Amino acid sequence: MPAPLEKIELSENVSIIGRSLKDIEKYGSRGTAYIGKVLMSAGEKPVLGRKIAMDIAKAHLVLICGKRGGGKSYSLAVLLEEFARLDPDVKARTTVICIDTVGIFWSLKIPNKENISELAEWDLKPEGTPVRILVPKGKIDFYKEKGVPVDGSFTIKASELEAIEWMALFKLTWRDPEGVLITRIIETLKEKIGTYYGTEEIITAIKKDTESEALAKQSLINRIKVAQSWGLIEKEGTRIREIAKPGAITIVDVSAYRQAIGIEGTKDIIVALLGKKLFEERMLYRKEEEMKLIKGEKKESSMPVVWMFIDEAHMFMPKDEDNIALKVLLEWVRVGRQPGLSLCLATQRPERLHPDAVSQCDLFISHRLTSQPDITAVSALRPSYMHQDFDKYYAEMPKSKGYAIILDDNTEKIWMVKIRPRYSWDAGTDASAFID
Ligand SMILES: Nc1ncnc2c1ncn2[C@@H]1O[C@H](COP(=O)(O)OP(=O)(O)OP(=O)(O)O)[C@@H](O)[C@H]1O
Ligand SMILES: [Mg+2]
Repeated sequence: MPAPLEKIELSENVSIIGRSLKDIEKYGSRGTAYIGKVLMSAGEKPVLGRKIAMDIAKAHLVLICGKRGGGKSYSLAVLLEEFARLDPDVKARTTVICIDTVGIFWSLKIPNKENISELAEWDLKPEGTPVRILVPKGKIDFYKEKGVPVDGSFTIKASELEAIEWMALFKLTWRDPEGVLITRIIETLKEKIGTYYGTEEIITAIKKDTESEALAKQSLINRIKVAQSWGLIEKEGTRIREIAKPGAITIVDVSAYRQAIGIEGTKDIIVALLGKKLFEERMLYRKEEEMKLIKGEKKESSMPVVWMFIDEAHMFMPKDEDNIALKVLLEWVRVGRQPGLSLCLATQRPERLHPDAVSQCDLFISHRLTSQPDITAVSALRPSYMHQDFDKYYAEMPKSKGYAIILDDNTEKIWMVKIRPRYSWDAGTDASAFID
C-alpha cells in the first residue's frame, strides 16, 4: 500500500470557487482542488492571502488562457495533482483523462526538484503524482527513446471509424474519388465482415472493388498504408473502460503525432472517438443512476464522472475550421454537465477557439494576455458582474509567472490569484532536463 499523498488541510482560511454557497455549507472543502492563494496587493513584492480551492466534485467547463509561457500547462498540472489527492471516496467516482499533445505531463510522476524553496514557502514538499501514461501502441519506441515512463498503450478499433472519420483522417471530401471509394468500402466491410476488420482487410476490399478507377484505388491504398505506420488503428481497440478507470488520472500522450506533417488528423480522431465513447457511456450510466435513485437505491455506477483535460484546445476546437473532434467537444460543452462530463481546456489563443467554449465556461482562468484580439474575444464573454475592463485587470497583474484572473460564474466573483507551485517536476521548461 503506497503512502498517502501529501495534502494541505483546507478547513480554515480558504475561499472556494466553482461551488454554490449551499454546497459549501453542505460539503465544506471536500472535493476541491487547492490551486493557489489570493493576491492581496500587487507591486514589487506581491502579498498573498487566503487559499483558493476549486470545486472538482461537480461538473464544470473550465477555460484556462494566457499568452505563451503564461503558465497554462503548469496550472493544468496543478489541477491534475489535486485530482490525485482527492478523498478516496470522491476520487473513486472520478476519472481524469488528459490529452497531451506536447508530451509534458508524464513528468507529473517525478517530484519537483527545482523549486524546493518556493514549495517550502507554501508549506509544500516535492512529491510525484501517480498518473498513467498511455501512448499509441505503434509508437512506444518513440516514447522509450525519450525516456518517458510509459504505463500502457492504446489502439483504435478500425470498425469504430465511420467513413466520415476516415475521410477526415485523409483530408478527403465527397468530391474526391477516394472519399467515395472509402465510403463504399466501409459499408461493404460492415455488411460482409461486421466489426472485426483491420487495415489489411480494407486494402483487400479496395483491390477487389470494381467500380472505381485504378488511380483512386491505388491512391487510397497508399493512404491506408500510411495509416498502418501510425500504429494506432487495429482490428482490436482498447476498451473505453480501460482508458477511463475510476480513480485514475490517465495521460493520453499523443505527442508522437506532433512532428510529421500530414498526421495531425490522428490526434483529432483520438480525441473525437474518446469524447464520443465517453459521452455515450456516461449517458447510459446516468440513466442507470437515475433508475436506482427512483427505486430508492444508492446512486452508484461503475462508470465514473469524467474530466477531460485538453491543452492547446484551439487545435481541436477551432473557430473557423472544421475538425472531427469539434462536434463531439461542442456536445460536451453544451450538454455535458448534466451527465457529469467536465472539460478543462487551455489555449494560448482564445480568439481562435470556438466561441461556445469561451462563452459557456463557468470557470474562466486567465493568465497574462497581451494580444488585443484575444482580450477582445474574452471581453465578449464578460458577464454582467464584471464591471471593469479586462485590460485593467491584466495591467494590475504582477509580471512574474503563475498569476491569473479567475471569473467564477457560480458565485459571480472575480479573483486575482497566484497559482501554487507544483509538487511535481515541470517538463514544460526543458523537456530534456530530466532525461540527461
Ligand atoms: N504557478 C507557477 N508558479 C511558478 N512557476 C510557474 C507557474 N506557472 C508557470 N510557471 C513557470 O512558467 C513556465 C511556463 O509555464 P507554462 O509552460 O505553463 O506556460 P504555457 O502558458 O503553457 O505556455 P505555452 O503557451 O508555451 O504552452 C513554467 O515552465 C514555469 O517555469
Ligand atoms: Mg503550454
